Amino acid sequence: MTALPMAVPAPGLPARVRIHEVGPRDGLQNEKTAVPTEVKAEFIERLADAGLTTVEATSFVHPKWVPQLADAERLFPLVRGLPGVRLPVLVPNQRGLDRALDLGATRVAVFASATESFAKANLNRTLDEALAVFEPVVARARAADVHVRGYLSMCFGDPWEGAVPVHQVVRVCTALRDMGCDELSLGDTIGVATPGHVQALLSALNEAGVPTDVLGVHFHDTYGQALANTLAALQHGVSTVDASAGGLGGCPYARSATGNLATEDLVWMLQGLGIDTGVDLARLTATSVWMAGQLGRPSPSRTVKALSHQEQ
Ligand code: HMG
Ligand code: MG
Repeated sequence: MTALPMAVPAPGLPARVRIHEVGPRDGLQNEKTAVPTEVKAEFIERLADAGLTTVEATSFVHPKWVPQLADAERLFPLVRGLPGVRLPVLVPNQRGLDRALDLGATRVAVFASATESFAKANLNRTLDEALAVFEPVVARARAADVHVRGYLSMCFGDPWEGAVPVHQVVRVCTALRDMGCDELSLGDTIGVATPGHVQALLSALNEAGVPTDVLGVHFHDTYGQALANTLAALQHGVSTVDASAGGLGGCPYARSATGNLATEDLVWMLQGLGIDTGVDLARLTATSVWMAGQLGRPSPSRTVKALSHQEQ
């Protein structure tokens, strides 16, 4: 029997949280060895079967920049018919959007940066050039009735520039919202955020006219702060949280980015808080144990370790 935390609600938190699962994209984009397309498809199927309703499937980026996801054209048709799950994909430009629309994607994500250095490293553009590239992508996607997420990386710190001023993040967030993004995801790409910083950024965004209900949070666990930061965001009213099954992840263009917040660790905390996610923790853990076997190394998630050890 899988252990579950005792549910003891805390005041002032959302009743339900939507988990935006990024393992197949953010997790696998960073693997040294290529994961076979069929294994990726099974990973996505198993995540959906575990109750995740949003699973970011892949990226239509330049295959030379992210060879790990170069099989997007083969993978997407294998999973796009899965019932009950939304499958967003990353698109960096018009070419990426063409590729995604050709395959029937109904949700896309553009990805901007709060800093110049990361815009250059990740997109080969200045920040403003990148925003100019996104503008027609967002407009075309929305005209095609496609939901658009706008990612914002380096919202708290940047490996080249150090601490990132809140006003810089607010400027880029506002630009993404003004061009029509339906939701925004605040990325702590290198995992340096702490809870007070998270709440200060969320308040500054609200003051600038960005409502909390369009905001999601995307924490990496480099310094072990991802769950504390998530709780701070929930206390502020955020109810969309990005996480990666088994804690897979990183970013090929930000060396200091380590794994994402593990979905199992998140689900454990949310179940303990009595917050509904619709996720079956036992099935999810079994999926991450299976994926760890495919990758040849154990999952870094504390919850996966604890639960899989218990079941042996
Ligand atoms: P570039 O080299 O400047 O591209 O790269 P370009 O626009 O100059 O075009 C050069 C050639 O690439 C052209 O071909 C284009 O057609 C082709 P040619 O005419 O020479 O034969 N090309 C493409 N081919 C296929 N698909 C495309 C595409 N675009 C151009 N979409 C580019 C610019 C944006 C393409 C490149 O920098 C790129 O692909 N970057 C992606 C980087 C990436 O995926 N990073 C990881 C995701 S972000 C992340 O992980 C952070 C996040 O998790 C949040 C957080 O944690 O912070 C989201
Ligand atoms: Mg990420």
